[in-house]
Amino acid sequence: MTDFSYEIEDIGLAQQGLERMNWVRERMPILRQIKTDFAKTRPFAGLRIGICLHVEAKTGIWLEALTSGGAAIAITGSPGTTQDEVAAALVAERGIQVFAKKSETFNQHLDYVARVLSTEPDLIVDNGADIHALALTGPTFSRAKSRIIGATEETTSGGFRIRENLADHAFPTIIINDSRAKRIIENRYGVGQSVVDGIMRCSNLLIGGKRATVIGYGYCGQGIARALRGLGARVTIVDIDPLTRLEAHTEGYHTTELEEALSTSDIVITVTGRPGALKRDHLTLIKDGALVCNAGHFETEIDLPGLRDLAAESNRIMPDVRQFKLNNGKTLYLLGKGNMVNLTAGDGNPIEVMDLGLALQSLSLACLAGNSQSLPAGPQATPREIENEVAVRTLQAWT
Ligand SMILES: NC(=O)c1ccc[n+]([C@@H]2O[C@H](COP(=O)([O-])OP(=O)(O)OC[C@H]3O[C@@H](n4cnc5c(N)ncnc54)[C@H](O)[C@@H]3O)[C@@H](O)[C@H]2O)c1
Repeated sequence: MTDFSYEIEDIGLAQQGLERMNWVRERMPILRQIKTDFAKTRPFAGLRIGICLHVEAKTGIWLEALTSGGAAIAITGSPGTTQDEVAAALVAERGIQVFAKKSETFNQHLDYVARVLSTEPDLIVDNGADIHALALTGPTFSRAKSRIIGATEETTSGGFRIRENLADHAFPTIIINDSRAKRIIENRYGVGQSVVDGIMRCSNLLIGGKRATVIGYGYCGQGIARALRGLGARVTIVDIDPLTRLEAHTEGYHTTELEEALSTSDIVITVTGRPGALKRDHLTLIKDGALVCNAGHFETEIDLPGLRDLAAESNRIMPDVRQFKLNNGKTLYLLGKGNMVNLTAGDGNPIEVMDLGLALQSLSLACLAGNSQSLPAGPQATPREIENEVAVRTLQAWT
């Protein structure tokens, strides 16, 4: 075990972080119950958990549940999504090793992931498969890899990466995103509301009457489209899958080719889970004055180097709004630096939704801690009994 190292913006923000967490804790009844249960059963006694998940207040309440179950924790987040005051509270008041700053670059993020893995955790929690990629490829972390008894992966993009790009599955990984509970409740309802909230907060613009294009009509895209339509936007759906386009059409949305949608939209949102949804050439087609943002896990959904290259001038207008004056005379406004706009420009998914999502994480981790020998190595779905238990607890809490 390494010494108690950490890297955050300002430890002096701890009190502010605690206050923020107090609001959230009151509204997370499922995690409060799990914390009480874990204090009795101690499923993580003697275990270290290495985590990559947004360092914000809801995650903070979840970490309280894990530590009450006996875990020692090291955590990092994603670029742009850290709440610095929560990071400070977790270090100063909860004894958690945090490597995360709101201002971190992508390269710093990768360095922080390595620092989490260097603590040689027994269990890992991943979000986008960055820890998996480091542990499973190359010799540098072979000792850390051999210690890991199980892992979870939170999101769609990470599930893709683990299944498609990482062959050497040395331990079981529960893909939380494969659960119906996460896809339906979090991705559709939670992401839908919070992405539109992020756009409204950072731009202060009216949604009603605007033309908006959602690129990618999966679980998240469906939720975003629904939330935009609920506020009166005229929504166009672009998706590479014809059956999905048909589904969107039948739901009452306008569907068309990407090129046409871009030239008429006031708001363009990528949420495909794949890099290059908006390539350099597409960016030149976007309507003058449009807002452009990403809700998918990785900023690579938009060709940001291409955007910078196309720009004759770039100016920061507000904290989460950057103006790009393109060489072709058009102006675009990039929200939240191309990172997930609901987390960079807002507070992320609604509290109740993450109470459910992090309950899935908690019970999956306890399952891995107790059954690592009997579970097969490699990616697998959340056990059905865990999903059902979380659904029952959530219904009890919400009705
Ligand atoms: N912002 C958040 O809080 C948050 C929360 C959950 C998931 N996510 C992320 O959102 C992304 C989408 O997740 P999902 O669960 O909706 O995925 P999904 O697999 O359900 O849907 C993705 C859709 O995008 C379409 N698609 C793929 N490439 C495309 C392209 N180039 N152009 C147009 N359409 C394309 C697919 O056909 C599919 O319909 C992932 O990166 C996921 O990790 C973000």
